[in-house]
Amino acid sequence: MIELSNVSKTYGSGDNAVHALQNVNLTIPKGTIHGVIGLSGAGKSTLIRCVNLLERPTSGSVVVDGQEMTGLTRSELNHARHRIGMIFQHFNLLTTRNVFDNIALPLELMGEKRSDIQNRVLPLLDMVGLSDKANQYPAQLSGGQKQRVAIARALASKPNVLLCDEATSALDPQTTSSILELLRDINHQLGITILLITHEMEVVKSICHRVSLISDGKLVEDAEVGDFFTAPNTQLGRDFLNDFLQLSPPKELLERLEELPGEHTHPVVRLTFSGDAVSTPLISRLARECSVDVSILQAKVESIQDRTLGLMIAELLGSHEQTQQAMSYLEAHQLQVEVLGHVQRNV
Ligand SMILES: Nc1ncnc2c1ncn2[C@@H]1O[C@H](COP(=O)(O)OP(=O)(O)OP(=O)(O)O)[C@@H](O)[C@H]1O
Ligand SMILES: [Mg+2]
Repeated sequence: MIELSNVSKTYGSGDNAVHALQNVNLTIPKGTIHGVIGLSGAGKSTLIRCVNLLERPTSGSVVVDGQEMTGLTRSELNHARHRIGMIFQHFNLLTTRNVFDNIALPLELMGEKRSDIQNRVLPLLDMVGLSDKANQYPAQLSGGQKQRVAIARALASKPNVLLCDEATSALDPQTTSSILELLRDINHQLGITILLITHEMEVVKSICHRVSLISDGKLVEDAEVGDFFTAPNTQLGRDFLNDFLQLSPPKELLERLEELPGEHTHPVVRLTFSGDAVSTPLISRLARECSVDVSILQAKVESIQDRTLGLMIAELLGSHEQTQQAMSYLEAHQLQVEVLGHVQRNV
């Protein structure tokens, strides 16, 4: 369990002060996988580094497994960090040590006996699928293999928590999925709580239970992954979702899109629907009950965990009153309706 209460972090002071985190509150239950997304510079790395106190919060409390981290002495903190593993985007392996010795390093620092180290490292090598690479050096490994070594090293001291800062951002999509699968197995088999930072919605979709969105140092969303993907609460959340779904109007239409309605225009809308609405023939009912025609420009259905999410970009063709009524009808049936703009009717 990780609990951040009112965590703030300011780098520098006076005119140069950067408020990297502002009053962040976040609870991550034991054994869950929690994702944090946000734009570059939003404060993601600062947030994750505050959990193991690689960065010391300017104020606030950080509790990991019942222990308040900010009040520990240096040696208590070193001890507490054995229970918190961490992996990074660029793996951070020691190039002069082979795979076995990289994984053994934290155990050596803890003063473990060589035989105990052997007994710990060999099953870890097996777990990450690198039993045949024990004597190789990092330079001889692919990116995915290096991250597997880093994961084994992070698990060597039997942590309860694993922190992952953009752990798959330097990897190709296929390698990314294999690393995510490994993280999912680790969470499942060992019950380790995972906090992962990413800028990729795909990563969140494939392994996280919950997700937080951070913007300018503030936590602006915190939701179940299914809820976030079906109904983000903020414009930034919707932007992340739309980028991920790659659903935006065709370029030709975008160029003709006007912000305000005119005398001879009709609205172009983005409809998002989930749950029962996906399987209900709402569009044909809309045409019948509101006397509008619907011209579908793009549509997509996505499965996210146990949810189904439908998306559509459509032009609503009818009089101003009819299209307004149509939008109210859709909203009354739990669809999210976002007016993207208005285009001239062919009159
Ligand atoms: N050591 C530091 N000293 C001063 N400012 C810092 C330091 N570390 C981070 N910052 C600033 O704090 C803010 C948050 O940075 P952070 O690295 O946490 O962002 P991030 O969300 O991880 O970004 P990215 O996606 O690019 O990794 C940024 O404005 C950054 O410039
Ligand atoms: Mg970062």
